[in-house]
Amino acid sequence: MREQISPARALSGAVLLPGDKSISHRYALLAAIAEGTTKIANYSSGADCQSTLACVRALGPGVEKHDGAVHIDGRGLEGLHAPDAMLDAGNSGSTIRMLSGILAAQPFVTRIGGDESLSRRPMERIMKPLAQMGARIEALENRFPPLTIHGGRLHPMEYTLPMASAQVKSCVLLAGLFAEGRTTVHEPVRTRDHTELALREFGADVEIERHSITVTGRPRLQGRELRVPGDLSAAAFFLVAALIVPESSLTIHGVGLNPTRSALLDFLAEMGAQIKILGVTSTGGELMGDVLVRKSRIRGGLLEKARAAALIDEIPVLAVLGAASEEGLVVRDASELRVKETDRIATIAENFKRMGLAITVREDGFEVPGRQSFHAAELDSFGDHRIAMAFSVAALAADGPCTMLDSGAASVSFPEFFGTLQRVAE
Ligand code: S3P
Repeated sequence: MREQISPARALSGAVLLPGDKSISHRYALLAAIAEGTTKIANYSSGADCQSTLACVRALGPGVEKHDGAVHIDGRGLEGLHAPDAMLDAGNSGSTIRMLSGILAAQPFVTRIGGDESLSRRPMERIMKPLAQMGARIEALENRFPPLTIHGGRLHPMEYTLPMASAQVKSCVLLAGLFAEGRTTVHEPVRTRDHTELALREFGADVEIERHSITVTGRPRLQGRELRVPGDLSAAAFFLVAALIVPESSLTIHGVGLNPTRSALLDFLAEMGAQIKILGVTSTGGELMGDVLVRKSRIRGGLLEKARAAALIDEIPVLAVLGAASEEGLVVRDASELRVKETDRIATIAENFKRMGLAITVREDGFEVPGRQSFHAAELDSFGDHRIAMAFSVAALAADGPCTMLDSGAASVSFPEFFGTLQRVAE
């Protein structure tokens, strides 16, 4: 699939987002091991979250859609059964890494794999802690999917994460639910805390102390009625688009504003973005509100350390903003970009080159000068949803129509992306 994107004069009107991808995965996984039915409104329409639902269904819990909500008929901590075939996590790192925490505690063997991109992503980061808890996991070359998980009785443990990763933290906490006693994860920097908040919603005992999270094993989780806020990482594409396309003024409704994610809004505001947040409410322990954004003069900035980790998913579109800014953007301490759906430092640099944009690549980031002109080009998502959307935003500011190859990749997190873009762009 390829998409033609024309330069835009203005973006205006209102945008509705898919449900947050991170929260949707967590609600589905916890619903599967809770007792009773969980009803999830605004569950992400993205392919990744549908992969999680397919895996859940294959393990026994009923999964149905009623009036736009996903209903999951939970089986309790002991109720899952062995799937008939290998579980397919598709393109989704979150699915394979977090679900493995649950599979590691099952009294059966499971195989779980995914597409070509997922098959190149590192899994030793979850294999190591799960092995310490008592599971035996085999992988290709000891690190790549598919994984064969020989589950069993797990011991609680204390684990210090070697990298900032909410997926690994969540994997260990989910495994900890099945172990008798307290499991603690220490993180180098605070990462998104959706698992902790969701665990509390389902009735688990979770203690959070600065960078350490402790869960008490063997809780009785209860099915719940939940609503997923709109995905702030999906909003990022429209925020940047409105900031760089002249005469733009956009309202983005129902955006998730969890403080472990909303560093994006602070960073944009520091760079000069005119952003207003209205009508903040809370649902399932998660904040949400409407975000208003106008075309603004963006100074540029530096993204490093904990902040680079907090904004890791937004870096592709921030690179585009950096090139349109006055002083450019420097990104450091972001080598995790190299092991996402693509090596994002390489795929950002390649699309920059195609648009005639300057970029200096480093091992753990890049430097982008400001005040650059975007030239029409044939762009490529390389099968990565965030690259597809980031460079479609860049195309809006180009000097002629651009083509995005493999544009269908956007549907991994935001199937409605191109339709929404067309509706708000003039
Ligand atoms: C996610 C955590 C991040 C992020 C990914 C979603 C999550 O990955 O990049 O898109 O939902 O926990 P890491 O845990 O690998 O940093």
